[in-house]
Amino acid sequence: MSDARMEYYENSENIRPESMDRIETREQADAFIADQVEKLRAQIGDGKVLLALSGGVDSSVVAALLIKAVGKQLTCIHVNHGLMRKGESQMVIDVFQKQLGANLIYVDATDRFLDLLAGVSDPEQKRKIIGGEFIKVFDEEAAKIEGVGFLGQGTIYPDILESKDGIKAHHNVGGLPEDVKLELVEPLKLLFKDEVRVVGAALGLPDTMVNRQPFPGPGLGVRCTGAITRDRLEALRESDAILREEFAKHGLDKKVWQYFTVVPDMKATGVKNGKRAFEWVCIIRAVNTKDAMSASIERIDWELLEHISYRITHEVNGINRCLYDVTAKPTGTIEFE
Ligand code: XMP
Repeated sequence: MSDARMEYYENSENIRPESMDRIETREQADAFIADQVEKLRAQIGDGKVLLALSGGVDSSVVAALLIKAVGKQLTCIHVNHGLMRKGESQMVIDVFQKQLGANLIYVDATDRFLDLLAGVSDPEQKRKIIGGEFIKVFDEEAAKIEGVGFLGQGTIYPDILESKDGIKAHHNVGGLPEDVKLELVEPLKLLFKDEVRVVGAALGLPDTMVNRQPFPGPGLGVRCTGAITRDRLEALRESDAILREEFAKHGLDKKVWQYFTVVPDMKATGVKNGKRAFEWVCIIRAVNTKDAMSASIERIDWELLEHISYRITHEVNGINRCLYDVTAKPTGTIEFE
């Protein structure tokens, strides 16, 4: 570990005091927000702040806090890597630009990412390309803005703990560039996830954003297994949207920790409209876990599963078969790649 990184973890500001109460109520969240707004204004003064806004819980809550504290001094950059779920980028634009009046730069970099990923089937290589290109696109946009002194980050306390212990190599703190020249602004760094959600709700963010299931940085890229093609990615996005819609309709979105579809690079024979149809297979995965280190499968109601399978095979172009993944972690990881 570098000296700068060691210093970061040992700094008392990055250690949660034992006396700190867990934020559970609206009143506690309001008090946290008022305190942070004051601290953010003191830190930032009349400086400019940049933030990569993915639409995930952590970056969304940081953005909302910063908007409250310094308004237009914050510029949010939302990079659409083409691997977002259906409607996700639009939601970021609607909430932050239209409702909260944020300075938001939206970059549709779909072609850049998908062109680079064409023909690449190795999962780690795919992750590297997505992560590397993300930083490139962000840096290019950031370079267009003059006089930026601060970088907002959605670091939360488990990121600090897990990076310190070397558990999560791919996560926030572990992924920070060593030579960051901007001063970091990390208002959530002592909070646990459940506290971030309470704060997000108090800031007026929509429930669908605050209580969102985890979604990996490389997005649908790790669920469109093997070399990604645009048509299969589209089938994946549509099938995932149907699954999410049905889970929400039946209250499973509040109960199940993570659920999604996977469309592997594999076809099977079927029949559609009386004709032989050689099409993709869609896998449905729904798991419950506390810490993502191990996970059990959700025992979905059989009728609902059949209904979802019917909708996916009849509404999504290119899919003629659905499977339900009944594998716990271990041995299966939550994601397929
Ligand atoms: P696995 O697949 O390792 O996933 O059982 C555990 C949790 O981590 C998420 N995950 C990722 N998150 N970048 C991320 O930001 C990644 O590359 C990545 N891979 C897995 C996964 O969705 C699950 O919640």
